[in-house]
Amino acid sequence: MLSFDEPTSAFTPARRYNKNTTYSSASLEPVTIGRGTPHPDSIKIIGGKGYDVRQPVPLKYPDVRQRFLSARHNFWTPNDIAMGDDKVQWNTGILTEEESWLFKCNISYLTASDNLVPDNLDNAILSQITANEMRQYLRWQMAEEANHIESYFFILESFGLDEQGQGQIFNLYQDVPELVNKLNWNLAFTNNVVNIDAPAGSMEASRALLEDLISYYAFEYLFFPLGFSQIFALARQGKLRNTAQQYQYIWRDENLHAINGRWLIRQIIRENPQLWDRKMQERARGIVDEAVKLESAYGQATMPNGGIVGMSVKNYVAFAQFMGDMLLKTLDLPPSFGVREHPMPWLSEYELKQEVNFFEGRVRDYRTGSVLVWD
Ligand SMILES: [Fe+2]
Ligand SMILES: [Fe+2]
Repeated sequence: MLSFDEPTSAFTPARRYNKNTTYSSASLEPVTIGRGTPHPDSIKIIGGKGYDVRQPVPLKYPDVRQRFLSARHNFWTPNDIAMGDDKVQWNTGILTEEESWLFKCNISYLTASDNLVPDNLDNAILSQITANEMRQYLRWQMAEEANHIESYFFILESFGLDEQGQGQIFNLYQDVPELVNKLNWNLAFTNNVVNIDAPAGSMEASRALLEDLISYYAFEYLFFPLGFSQIFALARQGKLRNTAQQYQYIWRDENLHAINGRWLIRQIIRENPQLWDRKMQERARGIVDEAVKLESAYGQATMPNGGIVGMSVKNYVAFAQFMGDMLLKTLDLPPSFGVREHPMPWLSEYELKQEVNFFEGRVRDYRTGSVLVWD
């Protein structure tokens, strides 16, 4: 039988594996002979030990695999959506000055944030996940986030903007303090997981991960729909409807990411109930409160004169609070804000639920996969 210290082939790696080495991720552990197929009971969503995470069976969490298959079925490409009407509108100055500012901030922030999400998955979250099916789903999600960035890029490109024009818009997230703050808030959680001075699987490291996941969940469930609603408000006035269509497809993906994020948080708690103590529950509420505050400040900064036609800052803040309360509810926590009714019920018109044939002259089958149905 080969031991850790013996090369497994004629090729000898410069640095051999040592059984005393601790790895930052189960996925970096060397393949070892004789581990065999794990027993389902030994597979854990985080902190699983004694088995190889590269093996797809046994399938411990079939719902997660189903989510992967749904996401894959939903895959779309931005250039399938015709952008001609928006190009004309953009170049004939249909947007008011206020709407133009809102649009530019919106697409700039969303592009930066769609970079942050996969970076968080890549640097902080994926390395701690020890179930193959969840690793698969998160990898697919990363590709979707890249597709969203391509969508934002494609939108500005299709307006006919050159690189300099695009750059002036994309850069805004670095210039507007409320956008900077919101992005750095999420980054702080990611960095906390990466830099924590505690071994993986310890209470401290797992708490950092849980906090990061709650901020991630706020991203997918709160920040994204709020941002999209601004463009849907323009579309309701007959402006940038092609862009809104792009956002509809992005939103459907983000819905599924939110569902998965929420499931992941709850599964970690189910398997590690000691993590979800009063202190952690209070922290979760604190994170959601911070998210709502940041979103409200973003609303103010992007609509500095109190709103645009069809959307007031007041309503926007109420929507952020409503989603904050909904988010808390899905974590079995009492509400913080008491906004009971959706302040923008018209948004449901923009939420893709059913099979839709949006593309003229091209029949495509898009399957339902994004409806926010909780357990
Ligand atoms: Fe995204
Ligand atoms: Fe996402």
